[in-house]
Amino acid sequence: MSRLFDHDGAPGSGYAQPSPLIEREDIEVTDTFKRKVMPNWPRISEPEMVRHYTWLSKRNFGIDTGFYPLGSCTMKHNPRVNEVIAQLPGIADIHPLQPDHQIQGLLYIYHEMQDMLAICAGMDAVTLQPVAGAQGEFTAIRCIQEYFRNKGELQRNKVIVPDSAHGTNPASAAMAGFEIIEIPSLEDGRIDLDALRSVVDENTAAMMITNPNTLGLFEIDIAEASEIVHEVGGQMYYDGANFNAILGRTSPGLMGFDAVHYNLHKTFSQPHGGGGPGSGPIGVKSHLAPFLPGPVAARRPLSGEDNPTPANDEFWYYWHQPEFSIGKVQQWHGNAGAVIRCWAYYRRYGKDLKLMSEHAVMNANYLRHRIQEEAKIAGLSDYIVDGAPAEVVKHEFTLSMGKLKEDKGVGAMDVAKGLLDMGYMAPTVYFPLVVPECMMIEPTETESKATLDEFAKKFIQVLALDPETLHEAPITTPVRRVDEVHAARNLWLRHDGVDR
Ligand SMILES: Cc1ncc(COP(=O)(O)O)c(C=O)c1O
Repeated sequence: MSRLFDHDGAPGSGYAQPSPLIEREDIEVTDTFKRKVMPNWPRISEPEMVRHYTWLSKRNFGIDTGFYPLGSCTMKHNPRVNEVIAQLPGIADIHPLQPDHQIQGLLYIYHEMQDMLAICAGMDAVTLQPVAGAQGEFTAIRCIQEYFRNKGELQRNKVIVPDSAHGTNPASAAMAGFEIIEIPSLEDGRIDLDALRSVVDENTAAMMITNPNTLGLFEIDIAEASEIVHEVGGQMYYDGANFNAILGRTSPGLMGFDAVHYNLHKTFSQPHGGGGPGSGPIGVKSHLAPFLPGPVAARRPLSGEDNPTPANDEFWYYWHQPEFSIGKVQQWHGNAGAVIRCWAYYRRYGKDLKLMSEHAVMNANYLRHRIQEEAKIAGLSDYIVDGAPAEVVKHEFTLSMGKLKEDKGVGAMDVAKGLLDMGYMAPTVYFPLVVPECMMIEPTETESKATLDEFAKKFIQVLALDPETLHEAPITTPVRRVDEVHAARNLWLRHDGVDR
């Protein structure tokens, strides 16, 4: 029920409760708790509010609006069937405090999801608790820390990261209290084994690395890197944000890793953006399993006393708390909605899941070559400089606008803004830092050949624009070029009735 005006004649509230059937006169709110002044909230009617949010949504860009090649962020289409499954009443209406015997179906899904993730990564145990990749990193690093404390190896206070690492890696390890040792990459962007050898010692707790790395390159020396770290007793941590490039082809377990996080919202499917909502489960080898945060789903063979549901007639499923758990990292059972959507996605692919990673890699390589071809046709080859000169990349690739900047004063940011005027979300810019004027492009497996062909053409058309036009871009978006540093440093999140 909504009304256009409140009793005092002010513009109405969006929603009004019906009057109570029984007046409770016995409840008295003391003056201390009564507001002296009404808060300055917007007071608008329901239709006005709906119009406001619809207007906002039309000013926004999303994967449902157009191609979104944001490198490292894996903005892929989320099949709508996952939404239907996540919203089935038997799933969506469960209360986190319901006892095990009422939620055997949900426990079954959690257990299968844990199993599937463990198999994909070559790990022994999984917790679905963390709700973001970065939180998964922190959680796994804490498990590694507890493992060493348990062994009495308290001197292990260093975590090694390559200079191409995602910023969350050093941040997560620093939050857990580790000292960060950064090592330089080789010229082709891959790990420098000599640099690694020179920093490992008995103080090394772990090395954190993503493979393929943030340049989209597979680390061919990864097994040797694992050996080097293991020789001094350290642990190998796999940032699984780029799992969508290798799923079903190889696994972090095979590469020698001890712990991994998965970005369910990137590898599988779950709408994400702006830091969430996501899910960042972690998988570990058996020696780290007792430290995982719970509850995790466990099962045992059914006994006569159990009350099986049709979802499972062989096993009894229950919540379990690992023995030396580092403690809770999230309330209840993690981001259950994300877990269900990703379970639905994986069930749809089944054992063909590796087709997803094959198509993601194929699309990235195809688009990279199409951009090069279009550049040749337009006579702009000089300005398409590979960020990582390699024959084949994995699921994403980097281009350097360094030469364009030198010759014409047009940088990666200008090209990104020009792409907005062409109706595309801009690729990631200025990351990884090792590539000058970097643009990082990740098409994902859900885009068609026609979309990639069109994007390659438009990309080169943007490069051909004169510098003045590009410096002014974007001109077609609801908001023109913003001062991003100012926006990040001077957050204004409070409503005070003033339009800014
Ligand atoms: C390589 C890498 N590591 C870690 C993360 C952090 O994941 P999240 O954004 O879920 O915290 C990302 C995010 O895109 C990433 O690309």
